[in-house]
Amino acid sequence: MRRKLVAANWKMNGDKAANSALLSAFVEGIDTQAMDAVVFPPAVYLDQVASALAVSGIRYGIQNVCAADMGAYTGETSLSMVKDFTADYVLVGHSERREMFADTNAVVVDKVKATLGAGLIPMLCVGETLEQREANQTETVVGGQIKAVLDAVGIDAFETIVIAYEPVWAIGTGKTASPEQAQAVHAYIRGLLAQASAAVAQKCRVLYGGSVKAASAQELFQQPDIDGGLVGGASLLADEFVAICQAAKGV
Ligand code: PGA
Repeated sequence: MRRKLVAANWKMNGDKAANSALLSAFVEGIDTQAMDAVVFPPAVYLDQVASALAVSGIRYGIQNVCAADMGAYTGETSLSMVKDFTADYVLVGHSERREMFADTNAVVVDKVKATLGAGLIPMLCVGETLEQREANQTETVVGGQIKAVLDAVGIDAFETIVIAYEPVWAIGTGKTASPEQAQAVHAYIRGLLAQASAAVAQKCRVLYGGSVKAASAQELFQQPDIDGGLVGGASLLADEFVAICQAAKGV
């Protein structure tokens, strides 16, 4: 039985006061006895999040990392810095990074490798654009994004790696994939992993992301291959995010 995981991707939003209010509400409202919750704040707020969540069961991580150890990489954040705040998750290959910051499959592979090497957990984001879906390329695109990592790190790493399937057309658009549409891709992803190892495929958590709301969460989380959610917009609203975590707990 895979434990459900719900992650908050704050993207480039927030300030100290708003974060503080959100974090208090998360600590108060989220019961991590029966599910895992993870918060991804902007890097500059990692210290604030680490302090606020220190005595809670809620974990946290960073939205992007540099694959290099240290040195002349102006503007970047290293894995050792992330570890300094006892964070344990790293978001890798979010579609916004793939689109706007040139995170190609090769770059994503380097970041996944470095994250695993540092003993942290990569949350690997994959997903197709609307044009790709309409051209029936969903499996080719998502399969290619996963195979690039699989070929580089091997199947056993997927006992650690969390996959987040996020159709690009559903991110921030209010258009959630239907539970059936999402389940079909999740089943495809698990099948792909199963070709390498049925046991690892059964253990690997595959989250859905793309306009997840409290109202849609439960039906999504009830699908057999959906193991939780990666939540953007709704993670900035305390009541919504707490309710989404509650939905994961209830399944
Ligand atoms: P959204 O974002 O929930 O606002 O669609 C999800 C994500 O980009 O991770």
